[in-house]
Amino acid sequence: MPCDVVLGGQWGDEGKGKVVDYLAAGARAVVRCQGGANAGHTLVEGDERLALHLVPSGVRHRGCLVVLGSGMVIDPVALLDEIGALDKAGLDVRRRVRVSSAAHVVLPAHRLQDRVEEMRRGAASVGTTGRGIGPAYADKSARTGLQIGVFLLPEPELRSALERALEAKRAVLRPESDLDVAAMVDEIVACRDRIAPLLADTGVLLHDLLDAGHDVILEGAQGVLLDLDHGSYPYVTSSSCTTAGALAGSGLPPQCVRRVYGVVKAYATRVGNGPFPTELEDATGARLREVGREFGTTTGRPRRCGWFDAVAARHAARICGFTELVLTKLDVLDDFETLRIAEAYELDGERIDRYPIDARTQARCQPVWTEIEGWRSSTRACRRAGDLPVAARRYLERLAACTGIRVGHVSVGPDRDSTIPVP
Ligand code: IMP
Repeated sequence: MPCDVVLGGQWGDEGKGKVVDYLAAGARAVVRCQGGANAGHTLVEGDERLALHLVPSGVRHRGCLVVLGSGMVIDPVALLDEIGALDKAGLDVRRRVRVSSAAHVVLPAHRLQDRVEEMRRGAASVGTTGRGIGPAYADKSARTGLQIGVFLLPEPELRSALERALEAKRAVLRPESDLDVAAMVDEIVACRDRIAPLLADTGVLLHDLLDAGHDVILEGAQGVLLDLDHGSYPYVTSSSCTTAGALAGSGLPPQCVRRVYGVVKAYATRVGNGPFPTELEDATGARLREVGREFGTTTGRPRRCGWFDAVAARHAARICGFTELVLTKLDVLDDFETLRIAEAYELDGERIDRYPIDARTQARCQPVWTEIEGWRSSTRACRRAGDLPVAARRYLERLAACTGIRVGHVSVGPDRDSTIPVP
């Protein structure tokens, strides 16, 4: 039962979409397991750029089912828009999408609630993407949410379920906002006939595929350091970004996992608020942002940039059982004279090797740097590990040594063929 898991090993935006696109060539299904339209993947092929938020990144492989698992929270209007745009690009997605009827609905009121709650937090805001993710998961946990299977009900029943849910939100959102419940209900009910045919028991579907010997890829969203349980709470997303979360959100058992790819950038970025020990608030950070084009796919926000944090990567690897690292955006470092890696932290005058579990302590950690010589030449045209400059190979070896996980692939550009296996 071969199932591979692809997860973000940092704070999201590691390039998981590109890695999944690369790995999905032989897969029968790619599954998004958690999160919602807070994620943003851009797939690049020549001049073509595809922006994905909800649909998994296997979408360019026409034999591949794209599955939205039960752990996701889904805005039905956004999903139909995205499928429409992908179909327009000639990808024939409608036929291949399967949505778990147990996934939860993100209502327009959740998006408003997300923004209102951020405003109410003031200086302590999380810096969310504003896509309603936290409020939708909060309702799910409180057992007041709507599973997307509600779209299978006859229209009057769907209408009254939506009315009840939205009326309940009215009170929560006052005084900042007054909902036009009737208009919202109409907009969502209008999606019913296009959402209903996409719904399935995706857990059964995936088990059947694995039993028939097909390959399945579980695609994580965000990154382990944004995980609700193992990240820098409360500066996290509201779902589980770990291997366990991928299994819970797809309905598959641990025995089916073959490989767990931890996707990490060759440096580090974070969007939103919260501790980031290796952050560079100087010209080097600005240079990483500029060269790496570090602006959010979903919100366009500039990303905070810093050097690779091996302490945090070890934490992610330990929780998720990474079997290999996929190192992305190595080419962004091509022109730097020296590079740095935080191999440990200093906390209250002492060296520590473990990532502290609470955000307050993380915020007090100072990186203990290892300096590495840069390679000062372009890696963009490299298509085999042997083509990489010696200093770049040394950088990979150092990362493997200080994270304890081998680097199995490296990527040196946005195109699919710029992902290179490292023997
Ligand atoms: P939320 O998921 O929109 O609630 O945002 C919570 C935190 O996770 C914020 O710091 C966001 O910037 C961050 N976040 C959510 N999704 C992504 C992502 O796909 N990439 C990077 N950061 C993300």
